[in-house]
Amino acid sequence: MSRYFVIGNPVEHSLSPEIHSMFAASAGIQDGFSYEKARFETGRFVEGISALVREQSPKGCNVTLPFKLDAYDYCLSHGGRVTPRAKAAKAVNTLFWAPEGLRADNTDGIGLVQDLEKRWAVSMRGARVLILGAGGAARGLLAVLKDEGCASIHLANRTPAKAADLAADFGVRSVLFTDTWAGGYDIIINTTSASLSNEAPAIPNSAFKDASVAYDLFYSIVDTPFMRLAKDSGVKLVLDGVGMLVEQAAESFYFWNGIRVATEPVYRAISEKVHRLPE
Ligand code: ATR
Repeated sequence: MSRYFVIGNPVEHSLSPEIHSMFAASAGIQDGFSYEKARFETGRFVEGISALVREQSPKGCNVTLPFKLDAYDYCLSHGGRVTPRAKAAKAVNTLFWAPEGLRADNTDGIGLVQDLEKRWAVSMRGARVLILGAGGAARGLLAVLKDEGCASIHLANRTPAKAADLAADFGVRSVLFTDTWAGGYDIIINTTSASLSNEAPAIPNSAFKDASVAYDLFYSIVDTPFMRLAKDSGVKLVLDGVGMLVEQAAESFYFWNGIRVATEPVYRAISEKVHRLPE
């Protein structure tokens, strides 16, 4: 039996069990495959993961909010090894109890890049990118984007000092929300949690004037305020985070099983489920 879990709080609405079950079926490894949700108490990651390891012997776990930093610390303090991109992100969304020991990765950033490049034929190479937000999601993204050959990466955050710190860590430039008025961005990515409070980051419409792509890491049944702002500003390709969700899962699946699965059928099924309006 190969047992997998997604750990979070809250975790009830996670789509990961469905996504991974579809991957397992398409890879022909569904027999003996299980993927369940595990809700840990906030601030008690170590207790939770220790009990899970003792009682369930997982082969792998996905880790979501608010435990990604805890999972990183846990891996390093238990003799594990983290991938370079997880090290740069200082956060982990994938744990793997491999035969040679504990391994950890962060597949969030590569998930977004795969979604843009494979599904939407948007190349990061040469692109002028604006990232909104300076939290864990922005850090995970920068850990990957810094190696993708972007022409420039600007970082803007509601609290400018946080953008300045994070930008310095990755050698990119921080700008104020108001500085973005002049545009000059091909791709604008919203990593903030503003959508959760039904808001958009306070950037002007003119920030989008050269943008061909706007991407919100968040997803919901209807367009987020950031997506509406981007559409109203004339951006042609406006995407939510469903594609990234499926692609980061596929990268985790590969990390655990060494099998690359076709993501398009799973993307269609999950997108249909997320965006289906109530009857
Ligand atoms: P995560 O790990 O998901 O990135 P986080 O570390 O709590 O979460 O960071 C949340 C990010 O969303 C921060 O950049 C936050 O901006 P501040 O640093 O100014 O708090 C940003 N954010 C949250 N609500 C926002 C809003 N209404 N408008 C703009 N930015 C917002």
